[in-house]
Amino acid sequence: MEIRKAVIPAAGLGTRFLPVTKSVPKELLPILDKPMLQYVVEEAAEAGIEQVIIVTSPGKESIASYFQSQPDLDSRLSDSPELLDKVRHASNLARVSFVIQEQPLGLGHAVLTAREAVGDEPFVVILPDDIVVHTPGVVAQMVEVSQRYNAGVVAVEPMPWETVQNYGVVDAVSAGERLHKIRGVVEKPKREDAPSNLSIVGRYILPPEIFQCLERTKPGAKGEIQLTDGLLMLLEQAELFAYEFLGTRYDGGTPMGLLRASLEFALARDDTREATRSLLRSLDNQ
Ligand code: G1P
Repeated sequence: MEIRKAVIPAAGLGTRFLPVTKSVPKELLPILDKPMLQYVVEEAAEAGIEQVIIVTSPGKESIASYFQSQPDLDSRLSDSPELLDKVRHASNLARVSFVIQEQPLGLGHAVLTAREAVGDEPFVVILPDDIVVHTPGVVAQMVEVSQRYNAGVVAVEPMPWETVQNYGVVDAVSAGERLHKIRGVVEKPKREDAPSNLSIVGRYILPPEIFQCLERTKPGAKGEIQLTDGLLMLLEQAELFAYEFLGTRYDGGTPMGLLRASLEFALARDDTREATRSLLRSLDNQ
C-alpha cells in the first residue's frame, strides 16, 4: 500500500537546548539557514509523502506559523525572487497539518495523538532531531523496503555499545543485506541487557494497528508511553523489519550534534565551503 502520510512528533520541551527552547522550539533551530524540521519535511516529500502531520504542544505555535504563507513578508521580498523562493519553499513541500499533544506523556503518546489524522493506512514516523544525509533519503529507502516485504520497517544503525542506553534497541535475525527481522525491541537498555547494538534511528514505517497497541501501552522508560513498547506489542500480530539505512546520521538533539551537523553541511555546500575551511584552519591555529 502507498505511504502517503508522515507523522512528525515535535511536542518535546527540548531540555537539552535550554535556555533557547524557552521561546524557540528545538525543531526550528537551524542547520545553517534552514530549521531541522524543514530537512525532514523535505525528506518526506522526496519519498512521495503528500501529507505531513506535525504533533506539537501548547506554546509551540511558531512551528505552525513557519509553514503558513506570510503575505507581508512576500510583498517585502517581491524584488528578490531568490529569497521569495526560499521563504515559500517550506509551505509548498506537502500539505501540513497540526495536532496538539496537551500533555508530555511520551513519544508513543505523541504518535497516538495523530491517530485520527492518519486514519486506517500505513504511515511513516519521522523524528526531526535525527537528520540523515543521503540521496535517496532514508524515508524513500524505507518505503521501498516496506513495499517489497509488505511489512513495517524501523531504521537502525549499529551504535557503539557504550551508547545503546540512549536508544531503542532491536533483537533481530538477519534477513538479507542491511535487513533484519525483528523478534523483540527494548527502550534504553543498560549495555549488559541490550540484545544487540542495532539502535533505532528516528524513522518508522508502521501499519495503523500500531494505534491499538499504543492505546494499551503502559508508561515504560522515564515513566513515559514509549513508541518502542508499542512496537513490542505490535510484533505479536505483525512482521517488522529493521533496516540499516544508507546515509550519515547527525544527532540534532544536542548542541554538539547540531554544531557538527552545521559544520559538515557548511563544508558540503558550495557557497559556504571555502569560508568554513578557513574558519576551521584559523581555529586550529589558536
Ligand atoms: C527516541 C526513541 C528511541 C530512539 C531515538 C532515536 O528516543 O524513544 O527508541 O532510538 O528516539 O533518536 P529519545 O531520543 O527521544 O530519547
